[in-house]
Amino acid sequence: MTNVSLIVAVGRNGVIGDGTSMPWHISEDLKYFKRTTMGHPMIMGRRTFESMGVLPGRRSIVITRQPDWSHPDVETAHSLPEALSLAGPAEEVFVVGGGEVYREAMPYAAHLLVTEVDRSPEGSVTFPEVDLTQWREVSREPHDGFAWVVYERR
Ligand SMILES: NC(=O)c1ccc[n+]([C@@H]2O[C@H](COP(=O)([O-])OP(=O)(O)OC[C@H]3O[C@@H](n4cnc5c(N)ncnc54)[C@H](OP(=O)(O)O)[C@@H]3O)[C@@H](O)[C@H]2O)c1
Repeated sequence: MTNVSLIVAVGRNGVIGDGTSMPWHISEDLKYFKRTTMGHPMIMGRRTFESMGVLPGRRSIVITRQPDWSHPDVETAHSLPEALSLAGPAEEVFVVGGGEVYREAMPYAAHLLVTEVDRSPEGSVTFPEVDLTQWREVSREPHDGFAWVVYERR
């Protein structure tokens, strides 16, 4: 079965963006994102795709409600279940945002890969608080200004 992981960078206040861009630029974290997702299908909302563009080396499956939306370098789905079935039985598929799609994908996820950023930026787009009655922290790697944390579903 497809193993779904959410990968996200979150401020202390839950903020992940302002709707068009990310609130920080942490090059070490972008490299972590790249090496973690490389070779695996990624599912994202249409807004996140517009803000991030095409990422090479990985299939991008973009979810939209617009029947006619398309882009030559990505696959399109019109619901999360359709996106998951397009991803197929790949060992691991990453949901890469944004706020709307993370919320919808949370029930499907077995792992959350959370970069906890030591900042509380302004922004209207958030990631839900990780509920520790449902998720267990399995690793934590502290760095300067952020930590890479992995949660596994209990
Ligand atoms: N910090 C991080 O790790 C991180 C990661 C990713 C993104 N972000 C930030 O998050 C923000 C974008 O997030 P967002 O919540 O505004 O948008 P989003 O989740 O990226 O995309 C929302 C769009 O996805 C489509 N969609 C969502 N659910 C759908 C469904 N069930 N069926 C069909 N289509 C669906 C719709 O597209 P249509 O409007 O085309 O119908 C909707 O407008 C940006 O600021 C970005 O920088 C942060």
